[in-house]
Amino acid sequence: MNTLTAVYPGSFDPPTNGHMDIIERAASFNGRLIVGVLANPSKSPLFSVEERVELLKELTKDIPNVEISSFSGLLVDFCRKVGARIVIRGLRAVTDFEFEFQMALTNKTMSPELETLFMPTSTDYVWISSSVVKEVAMFDGEFEGMVPKLIKDVLDKKFNR
Ligand code: PNS
Repeated sequence: MNTLTAVYPGSFDPPTNGHMDIIERAASFNGRLIVGVLANPSKSPLFSVEERVELLKELTKDIPNVEISSFSGLLVDFCRKVGARIVIRGLRAVTDFEFEFQMALTNKTMSPELETLFMPTSTDYVWISSSVVKEVAMFDGEFEGMVPKLIKDVLDKKFNR
């Protein structure tokens, strides 16, 4: 029997506790979970794609069925390449839904065999986003509880805190 392969795609700039919550819960199904880090130079990320991949590798090193990989171009092409038929996306609030729904249907149109599964983010993390974390870090605010310790340390270093 083939192992079920799912892709959890995102920018992860940087990974937050909300991302980690989705990764841990999606990995608990025991299929192969590939975290796909988007290499999109037009978004001018704070962390390079190599940095984000390394950080996620460190954060998931104790979860055996999780792999970290980067991709550029279309998500559907990356899913085909790695043999995934499932895309996992976390939904924080209704405001996420419109964009996520559009993205899921665009991907389904391009690749009908691909299913997008939405997981509600745990209530503790619904308000967290990478953008908010970056803004708080940039202006020297406290972001305890928003990101894993490793990410707090690298953000402190990035912003010379
Ligand atoms: O963490 P993000 O920024 O919300 O993730 C968005 C992501 C990476 C899932 C999305 O931008 C994406 O899949 N980009 C790849 C380009 C693509 O496939 N576009 C067509 C679907 S809209």
